[in-house]
Amino acid sequence: MSMGVRAHETAVLADEAVAIRRLSYRYPGTDTNVLEGVSISVKRGELLSIVGPSGGGKTTLLNCIAGFMQPSSGEICIDGKLVEGVVAGRAAFMFARDTLLPWRSALGNVELAVRLRERLKPRSTRLTGSQIVGDARALIARVGLKGYEDYRIEELSQGMRQRVALARTLAMDVSLILMDEPFGALDAQTRVAIQNEFLSVWEKQRRSVILITHDVGEAILMSDRIIVLGGRPAGVIADIEVKLARPRNAATIHADGSELFTEIWSMLDAASRKPDLSTTNVELPK
Ligand SMILES: Nc1ncnc2c1ncn2[C@@H]1O[C@H](COP(=O)(O)OP(=O)(O)OP(=O)(O)O)[C@@H](O)[C@H]1O
Ligand SMILES: [Mg+2]
Repeated sequence: MSMGVRAHETAVLADEAVAIRRLSYRYPGTDTNVLEGVSISVKRGELLSIVGPSGGGKTTLLNCIAGFMQPSSGEICIDGKLVEGVVAGRAAFMFARDTLLPWRSALGNVELAVRLRERLKPRSTRLTGSQIVGDARALIARVGLKGYEDYRIEELSQGMRQRVALARTLAMDVSLILMDEPFGALDAQTRVAIQNEFLSVWEKQRRSVILITHDVGEAILMSDRIIVLGGRPAGVIADIEVKLARPRNAATIHADGSELFTEIWSMLDAASRKPDLSTTNVELPK
């Protein structure tokens, strides 16, 4: 084991990008677990979605994976190393509401991410200033924003901002991308465009992705596997491989994915209806 890495009990498989073992989480000052006994394994290069009812613990789980919060029990390993603090440099993040610098240009925001990435490398292998700008320009073009490099963020639409956020996420030279409803705040048309752009990059690079989404259609369109979280406290209630051929689009999903859609939808429906058995003591009539 390399220096500075605490021993962990988790046996990590060779092709496992993320190993989550028996994770439970309880917010400080509360008396019930939000998550309990969650075990998920993400293979290298796999695009895994997590769906579940609102308030079901998805963001909590992602925050644990990102190292923003420490699990109450259980373990998370990324590339075989225990997560003990924020995993910046090991994973890139993208959230529903972007956190771009509003007064900077689109290019400036992406450039900042490229600079950060370069700073994490040994000095001798770093890109020069002009190479950094070139790389940022290429990323802007990749997400369909060529011509908007010099627009300030506050001058861009919500969809364009999300594209900048995506370019910034893709700038990070890491093998794991963690996304929490990244396309959730977009109108339907923009969402489809950005989903497709993300997928075309992913199909070339095959980074490991954990995508949290409310949108079952999006999960089916994008994922190799879908985890359904449910119950209180939340646990994994289904782990479903999506066998549909790629590339996929709305038409192929509609034709071949409708059974899967109904299956997942009814699980979510049942999960959100179920009474909270841990806190309600219902006396059954004799
Ligand atoms: N800081 C906090 N302190 C106490 N409880 C919290 C805190 N943050 C979230 N919770 C609770 O944890 C549970 C799970 O919240 P979480 O945000 O993880 O759900 P979610 O699945 O991401 O929901 P959504 O789909 O609406 O984003 C909720 O019951 C919520 O009230
Ligand atoms: Mg959430």
